Amino acid sequence: MFTGYSSICLARGLNEGGTLYACDRNKEWTDIAQKYWHRAGLSGKIELRLGPAEETLKGLLKEGLLKEGLLKEGLLKEGLLKEGLLKERLLKERLLKEGLLKEGLLKEGLLKERLLKEGLASKIDLGFIDADKTGYDIYYELMLELLHPGGVILFDNMLHQGMVTEPDPDDLDTLAIDSLNKKLHKDRRVEICLVPIGDGVTMALKV
Ligand SMILES: C[S@@+](CC[C@H](N)C(=O)[O-])C[C@H]1O[C@@H](n2cnc3c(N)ncnc32)[C@H](O)[C@@H]1O
Repeated sequence: MFTGYSSICLARGLNEGGTLYACDRNKEWTDIAQKYWHRAGLSGKIELRLGPAEETLKGLLKEGLLKEGLLKEGLLKEGLLKEGLLKERLLKERLLKEGLLKEGLLKEGLLKERLLKEGLASKIDLGFIDADKTGYDIYYELMLELLHPGGVILFDNMLHQGMVTEPDPDDLDTLAIDSLNKKLHKDRRVEICLVPIGDGVTMALKV
């Protein structure tokens, strides 16, 4: 998210009640972004997640979205919903012990799988990836889990200043972008379009 430009643009396009999860690991820059979110009247729509993006996305998948899915399904009682209570360990230990979840869902791994399969954990409409290039593929895989079918992931810098067209790129960032371009081209989970504006923006629609 950096100092807030793209997060402000995205938050302005949110539907009523929508939330933008803004991920960055740099406190100095996110402090600046928060100031501008406030000035733009968007503080209430943007949730800052400070930390490495991989951990943040995994956290979103495990905690927040799982929680929403469980609540919606009526599989969890309201009283347990304080932040942090829904770690996987507690799903297995405390919730089961207290009989607050239905037994059948509690086999190892099945809960998340079932919620994902049924689209209950897939609450995100749009993802925008514009962080460290070598992390893009990891963020893509996690975003794909978070996204509902029909949702879209945007990737910035997919032309990487034209360096992806060089026959033997030797820097890690170009190699990472080049290999992700090739992966996306063959990936049947998405339909893609690379828009040649700026440094190249790829749009990937989850099928
Ligand atoms: C190009 S800037 C993003 C610009 C932003 N899209 C905008 O328009 O304002 C890249 C940002 O990614 C962040 N970043 C880099 N690696 C990261 C990581 N592993 N986890 C989280 N954020 C990371 C940097 O701190 C930086 O703010």
